Amino acid sequence: MNITKDCILKHLRENRDQYISSSVFCHNSGISRAAFWKQIQLLRKEGYIIDAREHLGYRLEEEPDRLDKQLSEIKNIYFYQTLESTNITARMLAEKNAENFSVVIAEEQLQGRGRLGRSWDSPPGKGLWFSMILRPHMISPTAAAPITLVTAVALTRFLREFCGLPVKVKWPNDLLLGGKKLGGILTELKGEPDRVDYIIAGVGLNVNQKKNDFPTQLIPLATSLHLESVRLFDRTELFLSLRHELEKAYRLFFEAGFAPFAKPWKEFNTTLGQMVTINWPGGTICGTALDLTAEGALLIKDNQGQIHQINYGEIIT
Ligand code: BTN
Repeated sequence: MNITKDCILKHLRENRDQYISSSVFCHNSGISRAAFWKQIQLLRKEGYIIDAREHLGYRLEEEPDRLDKQLSEIKNIYFYQTLESTNITARMLAEKNAENFSVVIAEEQLQGRGRLGRSWDSPPGKGLWFSMILRPHMISPTAAAPITLVTAVALTRFLREFCGLPVKVKWPNDLLLGGKKLGGILTELKGEPDRVDYIIAGVGLNVNQKKNDFPTQLIPLATSLHLESVRLFDRTELFLSLRHELEKAYRLFFEAGFAPFAKPWKEFNTTLGQMVTINWPGGTICGTALDLTAEGALLIKDNQGQIHQINYGEIIT
């Protein structure tokens, strides 16, 4: 804990609408001007926007958005400031018998992971990066396969109903808004051929990013709830609601299977009826996306009229 920095921040907060004099502060608190300046620089590095004016002093203009530290006081929420990847930590906790529906959430991921070995940009103060540990009872990996689509339906339904945004899903794991990527799901599973041990459902959701917060190469491809609505979202509140909705959806899925999710998935999806090219373990296939099977696989009719069932893959166009 840095007491001097916290005192300066407290003083800036108490005088939000005015400039504070550094010489008066230093005189009253007994610190040097150099030490004061150093702490201002540290606060700026943490994302505080502090205006400095000659003869006037310093004024706090904006605070960085941070997830509420009290999250870590909630049962089965593992909250970290910085992690490599919430999926990795969730897996470690699952190996140590963390309970069903425990969630690992990080303000920032240094090596956020996407599907197919890609990276996932996860800066602090902007999005939600979390992974839920699921321990279904006596279910086979095949029966658990639609979990990614179930996650997509639960997230999309919530964002549509409560944020009023026309979020769509692209098979198998993309959330789209305005044709750009809003979020993604990375599901990992450990088990035997006939029994799932645990599932890690990782969710990345772009929330308050402005255009220039994305790396340059992502600007044409990615979006955030803020960019599509001009609102700024309380990420802590959003996370707690999403966690609740996801838990509800997973309970239903493990009880009733994919059937209750097939209809909403078909309503939200951008894939069916489209000509698609898919990379899958068997190669590349072009054709029309006809339908979704009861297990969440995609049925593709190729140009020769042959129908293929694709369980795992990625739509590249
Ligand atoms: C994708 O669209 O490729 C999937 C992206 C999944 C990103 C999330 S962020 C939280 C969790 N931890 C990770 O390292 N990845 C997932």
